Amino acid sequence: MLKTRFTETFGVTHPIVQGGMQWVGRAELAAAVSDAGALGIITALTQPTPEALAGEIAKARELTDKPFGVNLTILPSINPPPYDEYRHAIAESGVKIVETAGASPEPHMPFFKDHGIKVLHKCTSVRHALRAEKVGVDGVSIDGFECAGHPGEDDIPGLVLIPAAADKLSIPIIASGGIADERGLVAALALGADGVNMGTRFMSTQESWIHQNVKDRIVEATERETSLIFRPLRNTARVARNEISTKVVSMLDEGAQFEDIRELVAGVRGREVYESGDLDAGVWSVGMVQGLIQDVPSARELVERMVSGAEQIINGRLAGFIN
Ligand SMILES: Cc1cc2nc3c(=O)[nH]c(=O)nc-3n(C[C@H](O)[C@H](O)[C@H](O)COP(=O)(O)O)c2cc1C
Repeated sequence: MLKTRFTETFGVTHPIVQGGMQWVGRAELAAAVSDAGALGIITALTQPTPEALAGEIAKARELTDKPFGVNLTILPSINPPPYDEYRHAIAESGVKIVETAGASPEPHMPFFKDHGIKVLHKCTSVRHALRAEKVGVDGVSIDGFECAGHPGEDDIPGLVLIPAAADKLSIPIIASGGIADERGLVAALALGADGVNMGTRFMSTQESWIHQNVKDRIVEATERETSLIFRPLRNTARVARNEISTKVVSMLDEGAQFEDIRELVAGVRGREVYESGDLDAGVWSVGMVQGLIQDVPSARELVERMVSGAEQIINGRLAGFIN
């Protein structure tokens, strides 16, 4: 057993989190991860309405009696989703852990605190983590440049970002991005983190509903096969390198505006990849860590082997260095 400030504060057995994943983070995956003693997270905006989110939470609750969380990603948008209603659906469903991401959690904190909900805020820089700590979050997940999804614009990998954050913060820190196995878990703890958050690794588990072609592709792909799209728009996202991401990168490099690529990067096209298994149907998030993924285990198998593997590294290889 690995006991950390994260496991203590959030009431989770193992210091491992399955981060929010648009389209991927549904009840079956979150419940399987939580049932294995880690923290599974349902992604709120994958559900089309707050009512559908309440239904998804109820489904997860039928699958496990362990705590799980809900991710609320707050992004600037012309037509913002009804965040207040999603928040209410989370609280009314009795969920006690929320992962916020995308923007400052500040406007949502009074509501979450009033409802006894613990907040784990995901961000990509020390300064954003400090701001989140100041507004009262219970922990921060910090995504290094390696991560799938939005790594921010600073390009600081976890090896520097996590200890830099640990030097400044007092609340529990979860290292995120580039972690897939017990080596990453031990490294994160050594760098000063209290646990790890993983996206790509949990995408390729048995309980993740996505098409087998996508999981097979993650197993086959190397760490070099991701693309950073939206760089010139300062909204960088790391996605699988495919026909569409390559096209989007070159169009933006040649001066295209968001309007010109809007259709290519539409969220529904990404969902289509997961549903149909057509890897070039749209852009889809994946991290560099795909290069370390060689199988598609169950969530339980993954969590158990990471924890026992980490204990072996600490007690064996690392202890063996001490003379
Ligand atoms: C398919 C996919 C979708 C994601 N969608 C979201 C999202 O909607 N909100 C969010 O906060 N993070 C999202 N992420 C980021 C993950 O929660 C996590 O921070 C990231 O995957 C960590 O990097 P890793 O993939 O190297 O483990 C997504 C990641 C993946 C792989």
